[in-house]
Amino acid sequence: MLVVVCVLGACVGAILLLHYLLSPKILQLKGKHVMITGGSSGIGQALAIEAAKKGANISILARNQTALNAAKEVIQKELLDNVTQKVMAISVDISKDYDVLTSKIQQAEQEIGPVTMLINCAGFSIAGRFEDISLNDFKRLMDVNYFGSVCATKAVVEGMKQRECGRIVFVSSQAGQLGVCGFSGYSASKYALRGLAESLQMEWKPYSIRVTLSFPPDTDTPGYKEELKSKPKETQLISETSGLFKPQQVAHQIIADAQFGRFISSIGLEGYMLSNLTCGMSPVCCVGDAIQQVLTMSIFRLVSFFYLWGFDRVVRKCKEEAKADKSKID
Ligand SMILES: *[C@@H]1O[C@H](CO)[C@@H](O)[C@H](O)[C@H]1NC(C)=O
Ligand SMILES: *[C@@H]1O[C@H](CO)[C@@H](O)[C@H](O)[C@H]1NC(C)=O
Ligand SMILES: *[C@@H]1O[C@H](CO)[C@@H](O)[C@H](O)[C@H]1NC(C)=O
Ligand SMILES: *[C@@H]1O[C@H](CO)[C@@H](O)[C@H](O)[C@H]1NC(C)=O
Repeated sequence: MLVVVCVLGACVGAILLLHYLLSPKILQLKGKHVMITGGSSGIGQALAIEAAKKGANISILARNQTALNAAKEVIQKELLDNVTQKVMAISVDISKDYDVLTSKIQQAEQEIGPVTMLINCAGFSIAGRFEDISLNDFKRLMDVNYFGSVCATKAVVEGMKQRECGRIVFVSSQAGQLGVCGFSGYSASKYALRGLAESLQMEWKPYSIRVTLSFPPDTDTPGYKEELKSKPKETQLISETSGLFKPQQVAHQIIADAQFGRFISSIGLEGYMLSNLTCGMSPVCCVGDAIQQVLTMSIFRLVSFFYLWGFDRVVRKCKEEAKADKSKID
C-alpha cells in the first residue's frame, strides 16, 4: 500500500515538475509586429487577418504588387483598431536577392516596430510523377519552400536574439510528415523545413525565441486549385483522406500554437494522429503533449498500417487503370 502511494506521489510530482519546467507563456500580439511571407493569398492572407484581429501590426511579403494591394485592403477591414494598427505590403522575392530583402525588412521594422513573430508561409506545390517533374522544378521547390524560409528567418533573427523575444513559424505540410506518391519534389522541400526548425529551436531556446512547425492538410486556397491541375489521380485520392480545410481554420490553429510556443502545430483528426505518430525526437512544450505522445504512439502506428495498405492499393489500382486505358487506345 505504502509503495503504491509513494509511486503515485512520485508520478504526480514528476508531472508537476515537468509542467513547471515546460509550460511557456502565451505571447500577446496586441501592438506587436507580425510578418508573414506569402501573405497576399491563401493561408498567408488568413494568417494576416487572424493576427490583425488580435491587434498586431502586420507586414505581408509577396512578389505580386497587385495581389499585395488587394490583400492589404482586405486585412485593413479586419483590424481591431484602425488608428494604431498598421498594415504594410512589401513586394519582394524572398529567395532571390538577400540584400534587397534585408533592406526592405529593416525599413518595415523602422515603420511598424521590430518583428516579434515571423511566419514563413511562402511556398508552392507541384504534384506529378517523378519522371514528369523537371530538374528545374525540383530546384524551384527547394528555393522557395526551403531556402526562402532560411532567408527571411536570417533577416529577422538577429534583432530577436538581442531582444530575447520572438516567435518563428515554418509552414510545412502533412506531406512533410509522410512522403506521398506524386509529391517527391514537394515532400522533400517540406521535410527540409523540419530539419531546419528542429535545429533552430534548440539553438535559440536560451534566447527565448520559440519555433513552431506547422503541418497543414489540404487547404482550400488558390495554390491548392493550381496544384489540382497537374495532380495525378492517386495523389489526389491519397491526400484527400485528410479532408479539405478552410484557410481560416488553419490560420487560427497556427497563430494559437505559435502564441503558446508549441513546437508542432497540426489540425484535424489525421493531423492529430500524424503529429503524435511522427513526433520522434522533436521537442515537447507541455506535459499534456508529452503524455499524449507516450500513450498514443504505438496505437497510431497500428492504425497507420491500415492507411498505408489503403494508399498502396490506390497506387496499384491507378497503375492498372492507366494500363487498361493505354491498351484501349492501342
Ligand atoms: C498578380 O495578381 C493579380 C491579382 O491577383 C493577378 O491578376 C495577376 O495575374 C498576378 N500577376 C502575376 C504575374 O502573377
Ligand atoms: C476606421 O474605422 C471606422 C469605423 O469602422 C471608420 O469609420 C473609419 O473610416 C476607419 N478609418 C480608416 C482610416 O480606415
Ligand atoms: C505599430 O505601428 C504604429 C504605426 O506606425 C506604431 O505607432 C506602433 O508603435 C507600432 N507598434 C509597435 C510595437 O512598434
Ligand atoms: C498530439 O495531438 C494533439 C492534438 O493535435 C496536440 O495538442 C499535441 O501537440 C500532439 N502532439 C504532437 C507532438 O504534435
